[in-house]
Amino acid sequence: MVTEKLIPPSPSEETYAVDEDQGEVFTINDPTALFAEWLSLAKKKEPNDANAMALATVDGDGMPDLRMVLLKDVDAAGLTFYTNTESAKGKQLNVNAKAAVCFHWKSIRRQVRFRGTVTPVSAEEADAYFNTRARGARIGAHASDQSRPLESRFALEKQVAAKAAKFGLGEIPRPDHWSGYRIVPLQIEFWVNRPFRLHDRLVYRRDTATSEWTTEKLYP
Ligand SMILES: Cc1cc2nc3c(=O)[nH]c(=O)nc-3n(C[C@H](O)[C@H](O)[C@H](O)COP(=O)(O)O)c2cc1C
Repeated sequence: MVTEKLIPPSPSEETYAVDEDQGEVFTINDPTALFAEWLSLAKKKEPNDANAMALATVDGDGMPDLRMVLLKDVDAAGLTFYTNTESAKGKQLNVNAKAAVCFHWKSIRRQVRFRGTVTPVSAEEADAYFNTRARGARIGAHASDQSRPLESRFALEKQVAAKAAKFGLGEIPRPDHWSGYRIVPLQIEFWVNRPFRLHDRLVYRRDTATSEWTTEKLYP
């Protein structure tokens, strides 16, 4: 079986015995501050993209979809990411403004999951972020019909060249079809690896974006 070579066996007693025990990791009460602390640790240890998160959305038929996006801001209001609003995820969020995200940082063996409602960021906020992007990435946002069929790489390159010629050395405004979304969490779960799969889990829940958080530990 190919999987025998590709997938490691379940760890032995000895491996578990030396498995790093990270001790108490739920060191901060506020979930946003706790997440920021974990993200900052991950940023030091991950080879790249510690801010990458798997984003799950659901289409009009209830069929889930999932892809990676980059977290671009996080505060008490929620988690912000940017995308083409006419992409598959944009259309899905249009019919069902709810999402879940999951961070998994292999280097520190931790996972954080969020579930919540999704609201578009303001035009001012999207403009401010768009203007921090490299010129090529701003042109790319104009040129790409994200998630629509692409007849050839050449077709994309032609679009990029056309947009680059259109804007020349001038300002590149944010395209109407490109903006950000904020996930306003109603549930956040922190998970840390412990030996023998006896992991620690702490979940925060609230009924609305303005209500108080309650917490609960969960069996691994
Ligand atoms: C690490 C990583 C980060 C990504 N970040 C983004 C992002 O911030 N925004 C985005 O639109 N796509 C991002 N992508 C591409 C998406 O995963 C996806 O291919 C694209 O958004 C189209 O998704 P959709 O068809 O479900 O809308 C990223 C991909 C990877 C692997």
